[in-house]
Amino acid sequence: MSSLTITRPDDWHLHLRDDAQLESVVPFTARQFARAIVMPNLKPPVTTVALARAYRERIVRATPPRYTFEPLLTLYLTDTTSAAEVQSARASGFIAGVKLYPAGATTHSDAGVTSIDKVFPALAAMEECGMVLQVHGEVTESDVDVFDREKVFIDRVLRKITEKFPRLKVVFEHVTTREAVQFVMSSRAGVAATITPQHLLLNRNAIFQGGIRPHNYCLPVLKREHDREALIDAATSEDVRFFLGTDSAPHAKGAKETACGCAGIFSAHAAIELYAESFERAGRLDRLQAFASERGADFYGLPRNRTKITLVRDAWTPPLSYPFGDSEIVPFRAGEPVAWRMIEEQRA
Ligand code: NCD
Ligand code: ZN
Repeated sequence: MSSLTITRPDDWHLHLRDDAQLESVVPFTARQFARAIVMPNLKPPVTTVALARAYRERIVRATPPRYTFEPLLTLYLTDTTSAAEVQSARASGFIAGVKLYPAGATTHSDAGVTSIDKVFPALAAMEECGMVLQVHGEVTESDVDVFDREKVFIDRVLRKITEKFPRLKVVFEHVTTREAVQFVMSSRAGVAATITPQHLLLNRNAIFQGGIRPHNYCLPVLKREHDREALIDAATSEDVRFFLGTDSAPHAKGAKETACGCAGIFSAHAAIELYAESFERAGRLDRLQAFASERGADFYGLPRNRTKITLVRDAWTPPLSYPFGDSEIVPFRAGEPVAWRMIEEQRA
């Protein structure tokens, strides 16, 4: 196959940052995706509807007018998020969920949840009004091996949430392990997961290939090959619970290439192409549209997009860096070929 036309995709998990950095990265996403859920881990975090509304306006202003792009927001859950805030988020029409970061789990998560019981009232309100909970699924205890933090989270936290709140819709974000895939597949209805391009394409060897590779470091950290295989099987299966969320997470080059580098991989410049590559390798390009453009919208109860994009099998090489505010970012696959290319598109 040398060309593939699919319904325009949505990105159900994205980091856009703010101000000049936001202006640098939003065009990449707006070019490919019709909608994206923009994560709230700013400094300070987006914890209220008012903060989310203001951030949404900054995103819209930073989006080039030639693109029709709808940013959806999510509230950053804290120990003190009230039921009233949840209800007003639900009523806002542009807040698609509430994001649970265990305190200390990842970039800008220090204001996150310190103990799951503290957020039971907020979760009850979400269950009641149909608000989706998006979960960064890793425990933070320092005695738990960093490669086991996701699977330990399932037993210590996630199972409790899905059982205690049987009608709560839950997205297990950026799943990285075979155990997470199995948990989602065996869960009740209303439990789903996003999968990133890097976790479909790389295993943890990529962090140490010939030396330490800070640009392949993200959280949850890349796992073993048998985990990657389970993710490929899930993404390319007919199971409607698995859908696209890039977790594209830009950090300035200097913040990655340093003694204590930040977690996050920037993939928005080539997101749909990278997914196409991984689906092609699995011999399942026919399932790309369901994963990228249908199941997420269905899960969130939003209409599927009406416009299309076309991908051609014509390799291109991302540059070694892109401008990023007053700095630069090193993109995924910098200086190495990407097999597919999105061509300019018909927009309705
Ligand atoms: C994300 C970021 O930089 O904001 N980093 C990452 O490695 N994925 C945070 C997150 O989603 O964990
Ligand atoms: Zn993320």
